[in-house]
Amino acid sequence: MKKLCLLGLFVSLASQSVLADNLPAPIENKDAFISNLMKQMTLEEKIGQLRLISIGPEMPREMIRKEIAAGNIGGTFNSITRDENRPMQDAAMRSRLKIPMFFAYDVIHGHRTIFPIPLALASSWDMDAIYHSGRIAAQEAAADSLDITFAPMVDISRDPRWGRTSEGFGEDTYLVSRIAGVMVKAFQGNGANAADSIMASVKHFALYGAVEGGRDYNTVDMSPVKMYQDYLPPYRAAIDAGAGGVMVALNSINGVPATANTWLMHDLLRKEWGFKGLAVSDHGAIFELIKHGVARDGREAAKLAIKAGIDMSMNDSLYGKELPGLLKSGEIEQSDIDNAVREVLAAKYDMGLFKDPYLRIGKAEDDPADTYAESRLHRADARDVARRSLVLLENRNQTLPLKKSAKIALVGPLAKAPIDMMGSWAAAGRPAQSVTLFDGMTRALGAESKLVYARGANITGDKKVLDYLNFLNFDAPEVVDDPRPAQVLIDEAVKAAKDADVVVAAVGESRGMSHESSSRTELNIPASQRELIKALKATGKPLVLVLMNGRPLSLLEEQQQADAILETWFSGTEGGNAIADVLFGDYNPSGKLPITFPRSVGQIPTYYNHLSIGRPFTPGKPGNYTSQYFDDITGPLYPFGYGLSYTEFSLSDMALSSTTLNKTGKLDASVTLENTGKRDGETVVQLYIQDVTGSIIRPVKELKNFRKVMLKAGEKKVIHFTITEDDLKFFNAQLQYAAEPGKFNVQIGLDSQDVKQQSFELL
Ligand code: NOJ
Repeated sequence: MKKLCLLGLFVSLASQSVLADNLPAPIENKDAFISNLMKQMTLEEKIGQLRLISIGPEMPREMIRKEIAAGNIGGTFNSITRDENRPMQDAAMRSRLKIPMFFAYDVIHGHRTIFPIPLALASSWDMDAIYHSGRIAAQEAAADSLDITFAPMVDISRDPRWGRTSEGFGEDTYLVSRIAGVMVKAFQGNGANAADSIMASVKHFALYGAVEGGRDYNTVDMSPVKMYQDYLPPYRAAIDAGAGGVMVALNSINGVPATANTWLMHDLLRKEWGFKGLAVSDHGAIFELIKHGVARDGREAAKLAIKAGIDMSMNDSLYGKELPGLLKSGEIEQSDIDNAVREVLAAKYDMGLFKDPYLRIGKAEDDPADTYAESRLHRADARDVARRSLVLLENRNQTLPLKKSAKIALVGPLAKAPIDMMGSWAAAGRPAQSVTLFDGMTRALGAESKLVYARGANITGDKKVLDYLNFLNFDAPEVVDDPRPAQVLIDEAVKAAKDADVVVAAVGESRGMSHESSSRTELNIPASQRELIKALKATGKPLVLVLMNGRPLSLLEEQQQADAILETWFSGTEGGNAIADVLFGDYNPSGKLPITFPRSVGQIPTYYNHLSIGRPFTPGKPGNYTSQYFDDITGPLYPFGYGLSYTEFSLSDMALSSTTLNKTGKLDASVTLENTGKRDGETVVQLYIQDVTGSIIRPVKELKNFRKVMLKAGEKKVIHFTITEDDLKFFNAQLQYAAEPGKFNVQIGLDSQDVKQQSFELL
């Protein structure tokens, strides 16, 4: 989407003598095959393989093909159709060694069919649904000739000011790690070499979510224990699940940019974790080493990056320009280049491209007549996954579900916002194909619909913010602004509300507000919309807020004003239908928050699994010297793991099979879950453990397992969790991963706060 600079993309490299005319036929022995190929490659051809370029609409295709045919480009991203990529692969097949290109894209939460944003997927706590969304995304992307995605994004995000919170799976190490593995398996299917799979490259390695102050691209400073314990496991989980690639983060880590970080890429990733795949820089990151202040110039930047282990440079010309000179002067060695080239070729081999460069491009006669054809979408799947990702935050007096016979006023700037429904990083999704809330509700109501719509407010009344959002979102101004005075919009909505039985207000953020480079200092709903909510509240009509946003918001006022609040994040192509399903009770909401909602921005960080402290907050008289902010209630607005249902669930006390656990033994923790309400429904039973005393301070609790359970009205079920020593291990001060004998608290709950507790001793 970004406007891309052409300058310096094309490096003309003098050709060297040809060592061999033809590739040997692809062979089953990968290492031998690649070594053989590398023996035939000139230095220029090798360096060409290390260049990953972005294909912008304005780029001269003929010139790109020439460069490819000359062996000067290894892969592209942002070219996303078969007919676009076929001529480039043809050009590669005209190159001396016929090394295939690969085609990459940010397939983050769907490709043509857009699924809910990752934070929403995480809210489903439904691994099958998440897998399904990733599998379909891979199939659609592969059908469009793509070979690799820059996903999953598994950065732990504990600071909702960070706009990319939307792109990750939340704050919890265990949950994000589980999803990381699932997403990799979904993208890669039966193997990254399958025609309907794409290779996963996990990002952003590492710790990108911990940028200071939640300000994008900022520095990260973190203790090794915190890294190992909290932030690194999701990347590791993705790699253990077989991710073929890693995208290296833009941030620095303890003073060293990730892109130049030998410890990160050599010692940790490759040596300690045994990663054998492709390491790609992020966009322009090698060049940014100059700005970071660790490289004097482009030459030094290229040297640092290749030495640190960046195999492919994304969209800068530095490898092409500088590596030959660096090699000649002895500042880098041939093995530095060869190691990188080997990884690129190995990745292409693993994508199945040496066997068939057209594996995903297919034959021209099989190209879809219409790339955007409805028949290519997976609407039913998207609707089902989206319904599972919605979180019911409030529901006073059973305001929801709504009666279809009711007269409903639908208001708010997000009620008819197809582009926002898709969320950011919407890959090849088309706004015209996404179902807005207005569409979804109208369809659900059918011919009898008594729905009245009024816009009510603009996303923001702040011109500067509007300009920023519209500048950021490149192709066309995507935040539409109604030029009428704010009061006129509000009056119109109030009139609609007064005539209605119930008001549904679709409010929150435009998708660009929760995106790359979209950090915020406030977490509230923009003022223009808060004014609308206030006016709606004043009508006295039951008020349902349908929130659309890509990060936790601070909703103190809204919690009081609204009768019901449904958190819908950005729900994707079928969002409007999915939300309507929940609003009208055709689907009983079951989502749970994968991230804590703070009361105010000043409370951040509010993640639930913080370390124990010496003076934990204890309610009491003022000035009791316990840890708190004295000007507000201590604790979150909505805790991690929280979410309501249209039915009621109760949990019995917990039974533990023993009060002691041997190192090789097992413990059973069980509760009886009962659906005490009148509707069938699903909920998530969550297991937390606290290591009460350790050699270093341990978190107050940590999620260790969960189960999504469906119960009919009145049904009961005993839910069992097995606890072993593995669940109790952590990284100690020496970074050894081990459990320590002593007391542990086990908690089971339907959120992270309201839990049943028992204790046992690890012997
Ligand atoms: C920059 C982003 O940080 C990264 O996540 C993305 O994959 C690349 N741009 C390519 O679009």
